[in-house]
Amino acid sequence: MFIHIGDQELHYLKVLADDIFGRDKFIATIPRKTRSGKTDVSWKLSQDFDWLLIYTKNAPKTTQLFKRAIERRYYRSEDYPDDEWRLSDLTKQTSIEERPNSDFTLVNPKTGDEYPVNPNRSWAVTIDTVDEYIEKGKIVFPGDYDFLNIKTPAMRIFKSEEIEKYGKDFDKTYVSSDFLNKAMDDFLGTSTYNKHGTDEIIELFGEKIFDYPKNELILKRIIEYATDEGDIVLDFFAGSGTTGAVAHKMNRQYILCEQMDYIEPVLVERLKKVIGNKSSKGRLMETIVNFDGGGISKDVNWKGGGEFVYCELMKWNEAYMNKIQEAETSEELLEIWNDMKENAFLSYKVDPKQFDEDVEEFEELTIEDQKSFLVECLDKNQLYVNFSEIDDEDYDVSDEDKELNKQFYGVF
Ligand SMILES: C[S@@+](CC[C@H](N)C(=O)[O-])C[C@H]1O[C@@H](n2cnc3c(N)ncnc32)[C@H](O)[C@@H]1O
Repeated sequence: MFIHIGDQELHYLKVLADDIFGRDKFIATIPRKTRSGKTDVSWKLSQDFDWLLIYTKNAPKTTQLFKRAIERRYYRSEDYPDDEWRLSDLTKQTSIEERPNSDFTLVNPKTGDEYPVNPNRSWAVTIDTVDEYIEKGKIVFPGDYDFLNIKTPAMRIFKSEEIEKYGKDFDKTYVSSDFLNKAMDDFLGTSTYNKHGTDEIIELFGEKIFDYPKNELILKRIIEYATDEGDIVLDFFAGSGTTGAVAHKMNRQYILCEQMDYIEPVLVERLKKVIGNKSSKGRLMETIVNFDGGGISKDVNWKGGGEFVYCELMKWNEAYMNKIQEAETSEELLEIWNDMKENAFLSYKVDPKQFDEDVEEFEELTIEDQKSFLVECLDKNQLYVNFSEIDDEDYDVSDEDKELNKQFYGVF
């Protein structure tokens, strides 16, 4: 799980998220640069970063979370025509005091060149095993190959060894600093600045219709590190829909949730633009045109297509929230109260009888305070009809909606 958060809220969120998900589920905090430094800022300190908190549900620490291939350079040489190989460090982080068996001078048997041990980084082989390593071609010396420019001996790792040890996906091994360094190139560089998200929205809609939309590259990095094609990506704060658009272009399934009305003009419109329009060239050739070519489209060779469905949650107390907000007079609000008493879920703090007895006090409040008071009376856990209540006749859920919900939740 990735949570993207600003500096002001990061630490509160961390404590909250630790409390909910468990401290042992926390993996890392990753910074992202939001803009280049500004001068007109308080204390002349331009804080230009926000943060990604990463949590795991229950993956053991040995799990490879980021399924990204390591980009390693392999060589092919005449002396090993059937295998490729790469170089790896022949020293270890341990000192010669810690590894006395690795405290020796390495000698190139072909040239007699000597390579003394570095006392702070002992050899990765021991005095007892070094000859065997050399015999098996596991150590490459400077000068062995014209195409290599190395100054000290290196370990040779054959591809066949790696496949034997880690399986055919050996190159999908996760290396923490490798992930961070790679991600940091983007996250700490200029390519994921906030302004790119704004530019992408302007390119798509012709105007800035959302403040601080995420840019697509951030989501591309996260989605490619954490998922495979076909996996489900969930964004329960969908906003301008960057996560959905990127997941769609990267052939992931996705579920988005959003509370605000701008889902129609922003989110739904954006996803429609990602998909593009069908255009028939003759009867047999159907092509897709006018699909979103911005954001990561070029990177992933996006050609449009696909589909999505969207639905609104069935309102219950939320319908009263809306009525309260729209009311203009005290009389209307009291009518709503009478309806609420019968049909809404009231907060446990409210005693309807007491309210009716003190109705004059209520009438003395300003309209705004009356509204706030009624909103307070509603149980916010019951804003929408819960799935568990779908068969309750009081809610009168249509057969079509029941069928759709059961399909969505996979309950039959
Ligand atoms: C900064 S936007 C998120 C951007 C988004 N993740 C993307 O990929 O572009 C945060 C969104 O979360 C929505 N939101 C906040 N609380 C919510 C809730 N309880 N349920 C659903 N959406 C919520 C807000 O309305 C806002 O649109």
